Amino acid sequence: MLPLASRTLSQSARRAATSTGSSSVTLSSSLIARACPSCGFSTAPARRLAAVISDSNKQGKPVPANSPSVSSEKKPKLKPLTPEQREFLSSALRVNQTGELAATLIYAAQTPVVVRQHPHLRPLMKHMHDQEVGHLQTFNKLIAKHRVRPTALYPVWSALATGLGWGTAIMGREAAMACTEAVETEIGTHYNSQIRELLEMTGAWKEEGYDVGPELSELISTLRRIRDEELEHLDYAVEHDAQKAEPHWLLTNVIRLGCRSAIWVSERV
Ligand SMILES: [Fe+2]
Ligand SMILES: [Fe+2]
Repeated sequence: MLPLASRTLSQSARRAATSTGSSSVTLSSSLIARACPSCGFSTAPARRLAAVISDSNKQGKPVPANSPSVSSEKKPKLKPLTPEQREFLSSALRVNQTGELAATLIYAAQTPVVVRQHPHLRPLMKHMHDQEVGHLQTFNKLIAKHRVRPTALYPVWSALATGLGWGTAIMGREAAMACTEAVETEIGTHYNSQIRELLEMTGAWKEEGYDVGPELSELISTLRRIRDEELEHLDYAVEHDAQKAEPHWLLTNVIRLGCRSAIWVSERV
């Protein structure tokens, strides 16, 4: 069970997660241990797994043999993207790649400092860092595949993220966790708004009789998976005393403002 204060900070991200296809809130009071398939970290809640199951139930219904979608005669009818939709998708991939680069660098800078003082946190820090590396690799591939221009401020975000990670780590374990709490709250909210926009876009296509197509369907489920992992990181941070950082409100609000500014700039530059 999470402390009450953590719910206050992340309420908007969690509410939005529920409305865009996650069972985060419903499972928050019944965390079930599971092991990360790559690193074996075993204290993660079953939230993401449940979200995946929930999503697959919605999307994985058996298709009748006589369904038009499996007919060999019918070809998918895809709606061409408008320039605005194309720009939205390019901007989304660009900012997501930037955010995941920053997250990877924050954890990379925090981990040696935090682990030196608190060796028992090594599995947790490694688990979160490894997941961020996976997120970054996902968006690196999508950026290359769709020939989207990466952010022009790559070196700036790299330096700022490393500085933020190192700076909060030397302030102590609680400050490092407060940094994670603030960053993941903003990133979770950011992914939710992207998922919502994509669902509105593809929902309108379906109403017009168009197919969504495999690429956008896959992108939406990728965003849901990554969003749920970010919200797990938020939970870990709160469970590891992020709220005890001094001064918590100043630290988290400054970092959240910085995140929102970075997202705004990266969507454009
Ligand atoms: Fe991430
Ligand atoms: Fe994260």
